[in-house]
Amino acid sequence: ELMSKVKVTWSCPSNIAIVKYWGKKGNQLPCNSSLSLTLSNSYTTVEAELSEKTSDEPVQLSYFFDGEINEKFGQRVAKFLVDNREFFPFLGEKAITIHSSNSFPHSAGIASSASAFGAISLALLDIAYILQGTDKDEQFYNKASYLARLGSGSASRSMFPGFALWGENDNVKNTSNEHAIAISDVHPVFHNMKDAILIVEDEPKKVSSSVGHSLMNNHPYAEQRFQQANERTAELVEILKTGNMDAFIRLCESEALTLHAMMMTSMDYYLLVKPGTITAIERLMEFRKESNVPVCFTLDAGPNVHVLYPKAYEAQVEAFINNELRDTYKKVIFDQEGVGPTKMN
Ligand code: PMV
Repeated sequence: ELMSKVKVTWSCPSNIAIVKYWGKKGNQLPCNSSLSLTLSNSYTTVEAELSEKTSDEPVQLSYFFDGEINEKFGQRVAKFLVDNREFFPFLGEKAITIHSSNSFPHSAGIASSASAFGAISLALLDIAYILQGTDKDEQFYNKASYLARLGSGSASRSMFPGFALWGENDNVKNTSNEHAIAISDVHPVFHNMKDAILIVEDEPKKVSSSVGHSLMNNHPYAEQRFQQANERTAELVEILKTGNMDAFIRLCESEALTLHAMMMTSMDYYLLVKPGTITAIERLMEFRKESNVPVCFTLDAGPNVHVLYPKAYEAQVEAFINNELRDTYKKVIFDQEGVGPTKMN
């Protein structure tokens, strides 16, 4: 029988936000639009396979990470499947086994929920298409983005190559709160961007994303922040089109610091940078001033520093990272702009 033989494997990359998503409402809808760069070397691979049910749970899931049962993340995935089972009607009749693994080290401090929920959504949607006998239409990645968003907001942006935008924006066409879209009009100076991820600290996150987003409820600067992020999203779309590197650098770094400013000014408050974070940022700004190399930093909700630069400056920036920043980080992952998800088989 077709149904019990279905097995698919997808890999989905992580992404790094330039304009940050911080604050959500309703069913995983963003309080402001955000815009990110899809990565290449940092990805999750998911193999999903159906089998006969052996229990009458609404969804019977076995979730493995690196070959071992992972209770904690497995429970989050199970809840995601139960909450959204209307999209996966086959889960009413079949059990599902998911084997997941990351290309990056477990404790690397890289947000893995974007790539994981991306890959899980793609695999399950693909199974739904196969069982319905439909070919993958042009809506496939939008639908996968919609589903991924329900698992982890930032995952919605991992479905597309290069730059992706998630969230309604009055000044950008075709934007939606429900799924991300690709930004295709990008000037050559922003093709082949590199992202060197300096792992300053590899301990688990101090604040989970969901707690983090909730800090924007009743935040004294929430309304201004959401408005600013929407304006900056539209500005960044224009910057990417016209190739204004200086404007990109200013916007990108200010977004990183604003994200952390929001965390420092919320109640409870969080200070997520480490001494190494500050030292790396200061030296990077100094290096840019002296060398005129177009390099800038961004941050996630943690201490690690993402160093962004065009591929044309790879040699200079990598020498700077290896020689002059070496004492600020534990390890470095050299990543770059990616082409989006891939079906492995
Ligand atoms: O997708 P979440 O809920 O883990 O939120 C991600 C939030 C940030 O990484 C800090 C910013 C972003 O836009 O990715």
